Amino acid sequence: MYIFKAGVVGAGFMGAEIAQVISFSGLPVVVKDIDPAMLRKAEDHIRQIYQSRVDKGKMTAGELRDKMDLIEFTLDYDSFADADFIIEAVPERMDLKVRVFQELAQVAPETAIFASNTSALSISEMGYKAGRPERTIGLHFFSPAHVMKLVEVIPGLDTAQDVIDDTVQFAESLRKIPVVVKECPGFLVNRLLAPYLGEAMFALQEGAATATEIDEAMVEFGMPMGPFTLLDFMGLDVSAHAGEYMASEYGPRFQPPEILKRLVAMGRYGEKTGAGFYGYGEQTDEPVKQVLAEIQARGIPRGEFSVERLIFPMINEAALIAQENIASIPDIDMAMIAGTGMTYHGERMGPLAIADEYGLDVVLAGLERMLREPWGGERFRPAQFLKTKVRAGHLGKKTGRGFHEHLNL
Ligand SMILES: NC(=O)c1ccc[n+]([C@@H]2O[C@H](COP(=O)([O-])OP(=O)(O)OC[C@H]3O[C@@H](n4cnc5c(N)ncnc54)[C@H](O)[C@@H]3O)[C@@H](O)[C@H]2O)c1
Repeated sequence: MYIFKAGVVGAGFMGAEIAQVISFSGLPVVVKDIDPAMLRKAEDHIRQIYQSRVDKGKMTAGELRDKMDLIEFTLDYDSFADADFIIEAVPERMDLKVRVFQELAQVAPETAIFASNTSALSISEMGYKAGRPERTIGLHFFSPAHVMKLVEVIPGLDTAQDVIDDTVQFAESLRKIPVVVKECPGFLVNRLLAPYLGEAMFALQEGAATATEIDEAMVEFGMPMGPFTLLDFMGLDVSAHAGEYMASEYGPRFQPPEILKRLVAMGRYGEKTGAGFYGYGEQTDEPVKQVLAEIQARGIPRGEFSVERLIFPMINEAALIAQENIASIPDIDMAMIAGTGMTYHGERMGPLAIADEYGLDVVLAGLERMLREPWGGERFRPAQFLKTKVRAGHLGKKTGRGFHEHLNL
């Protein structure tokens, strides 16, 4: 399907960013909100993104005007009558998203694709409830969308194959890297980040290391920023909400650590409130230390910190994702590279390629040890796929074959 015009519903932070990305690709886009103030804010935000390109000499003032002219801001659905691809970015509530899709179905062409930018909600449920399951799909952008290359394409159970293909093509036309992910809570990147961030917080909570020590170790390992810097950036309220949702779907393996809930209850939401795991500006991290001391005084087992404690559970989750056919092995690694910027020994590498470097037997032994530790337990239980790989002698680079093939051996 050729896409002549796109639509975005919800002109908050994500909606504005997505509209900028679409206009930048040269496609007209109509943006709708229910709040005129949000539309004005979105317009300013998009203009600022373009203005910074002008300031850097990457674009002329005339080109800025041309791009802005491609965007129509509106409070009604009239201009959606000829929109072929519509993305909703309204707040994360199923009833709201379903209502938007139902309203759109009254005005949009029958062939239009309805995409949701949801971070977690079920696409299958959304499509079913809105009554257009075969033409509904997930298109999950990462924040800030005008910078981040990765988009997750999430077909629901009943999404038509041509809709999947058109969505991948549309994402490519926006100069993004689309990865098709079978529907599961957290999709791909957030599901893999959850155990990694969780172990960082457990290690902190158990007094194994400070937030700064853990952040420094992970940056040295090859992450673009440490886990606590990332948590403060993403928002602890958002992470706690996502953590509870993941735990409700996957069970205790994803149970968020107490420290996260405590900091949220104190209103420490991260950078946006001037305080999270770290203090910003006037604020310090003294209150965090007090809460940690309180938790540790209850006599919880003292944990250990190592980069492997954070990375091996991420590898294990990636093995589970491969085992469940959520995504292919190359796609898992590519998504993590594009979505997080992770590297290993100076090379862009995703978790399964990193496992091949360590040796799958080493990863398995590490997980089995942490499974038995007093501070560890069930959340370290190795994936069956990882065990089978080791039993088959697919140990990684050293045997020429692990999660990937290594032909030069
Ligand atoms: N913020 C992120 O980092 C991020 C990243 C990926 C995905 N998402 C997802 O994107 C979606 C939007 O997130 P956000 O952070 O931009 O939210 P936001 O609260 O900043 O914006 C939501 C916008 O939707 C508008 N809105 C509410 N009801 C509406 C309706 N019926 N019709 C039209 N507009 C309506 C609101 O006025 C607001 O402008 C959520 O599903 C979120 O989970 C967010």
